[in-house]
Amino acid sequence: PSMSSTAADSLTFWCTCPPGLEDLARDEALESLASFDVRSVEASRGRLVCNIAAPLADGDSQNQLIRSVLNLRMPANHFLVFYECCPFDLSESLDRLIDLVPQANWQLAMSAWRTLFYEPDGRHSEIQNVGHEPLPDYKFTRSKPYQAGDSQPKLQSSEDPSPNDQAPSGPKVKDPSKLSFRCTCYRAGSGHSFQSMEVAAAVGAAVQDYFGWNVDLKNYDIEVVIWIEGPLVRICLSLNRLCMDFRGQLVDVGSTALRSTIAAGMIRLCQPRSGEIICDCMCGSGSIPLEAWTTHQNAYHLAGDCHPVAIDKCAANIANWCQRWDQRSPVELIRWNLCQFPVRPGTVDVFLADLPFGKRLGSRRENASLYPAALSAMAKSCVPVTGRACLLSADRKNLSRAIKLMSEYWTIARTIGVGIGGITASIVLLNRTATTKSAASVVAPGAKSD
Ligand SMILES: C[S@@+](CC[C@H](N)C(=O)[O-])C[C@H]1O[C@@H](n2cnc3c(N)ncnc32)[C@H](O)[C@@H]1O
Repeated sequence: PSMSSTAADSLTFWCTCPPGLEDLARDEALESLASFDVRSVEASRGRLVCNIAAPLADGDSQNQLIRSVLNLRMPANHFLVFYECCPFDLSESLDRLIDLVPQANWQLAMSAWRTLFYEPDGRHSEIQNVGHEPLPDYKFTRSKPYQAGDSQPKLQSSEDPSPNDQAPSGPKVKDPSKLSFRCTCYRAGSGHSFQSMEVAAAVGAAVQDYFGWNVDLKNYDIEVVIWIEGPLVRICLSLNRLCMDFRGQLVDVGSTALRSTIAAGMIRLCQPRSGEIICDCMCGSGSIPLEAWTTHQNAYHLAGDCHPVAIDKCAANIANWCQRWDQRSPVELIRWNLCQFPVRPGTVDVFLADLPFGKRLGSRRENASLYPAALSAMAKSCVPVTGRACLLSADRKNLSRAIKLMSEYWTIARTIGVGIGGITASIVLLNRTATTKSAASVVAPGAKSD
């Protein structure tokens, strides 16, 4: 088996990303990390694994690399791998997994942790040891020896790993001079004779014994993640406190708010250029315009919605964003009915729209008239030839019908299926044709206003 506490001259990052957007996420990683020596970026369902050269002795360049990986826009969770082994026999007992704890590269994990999370004057002022030295008397003994089949574990074979966390069975009294941690296990594939919870509990107990750290599932300092995929075992450090799906940039989130990670993918597909006008014409709480502004500050940003509550939410999110970064409002926010779009013909370079799916918002019947009307209005205000529109909807039937109806003005450049909370939606990138469209020929249905 190939076994390593990770190669001394490279770092491996495991990132989760929206299922379906892996290729876009890989392109982003290759482009954004181009100044580093990227050895490989592998994309598979819902995740990226990046291996990047980084001499262990050079702490500064390692820190810079970790921060650059954290700045990627499409991953939602980032993990640094500090032990991996493949193939690892997972068919019999957990003992061999527990034995991996002392073998892992804790020096690497704790150095990354200190870079990102250590607050010597704040939360960690009482902590006596933030290093990677184990307790001198470490010897892990299981309180109840595990027997294969003990709790009749059910094999889990889901494609998407599901997390499971467990408090190791250890002393309950917390020592305030010690760091706190939690252990989480993600598991996919078959052939495992135990459940994720058992792995988290057993490895967590071993880590607790090894360092004497406190277990705290909520207020933890460190999250140790065991990632098991078929015969592959990786031990990782979680690099995020907060899942980056919303990046904490939305304080007022509507029920249909779009994840910023998916918004990032839509924006990337459009390849906005400096000076272009980018418009989210159905902005809801505003995750697309805030993401677009963050990544394309040299463009001009317009956003609007027909619903007053959506406008209030979007305004609150923009205001919070401005306060956080001490900036003036980067987005022009207007209440409008897209079907009577108030912008001069041929002015918008990039339209982005997260359309009502017709389930939680609107209905499929309303979509049948809203979608062609929206595409018609966008065609009027979009710059012919170079203009683009990127649309997202799970109502794929009405979307493709509307695109066919408006094919004089739009051609499909790319279609991607993306998983959103258990449903598959389509992201479609459209290019504007050269045909000009007069205001008089805009299709005008009853506009959706809730
Ligand atoms: C799926 S939601 C958008 C969610 C948004 N991306 C977010 O992050 O919150 C669709 C939005 O389209 C708006 N909408 C529906 N019909 C519209 C129309 N004719 N003109 C403008 N906005 C419209 C709805 O009010 C709703 O806020």
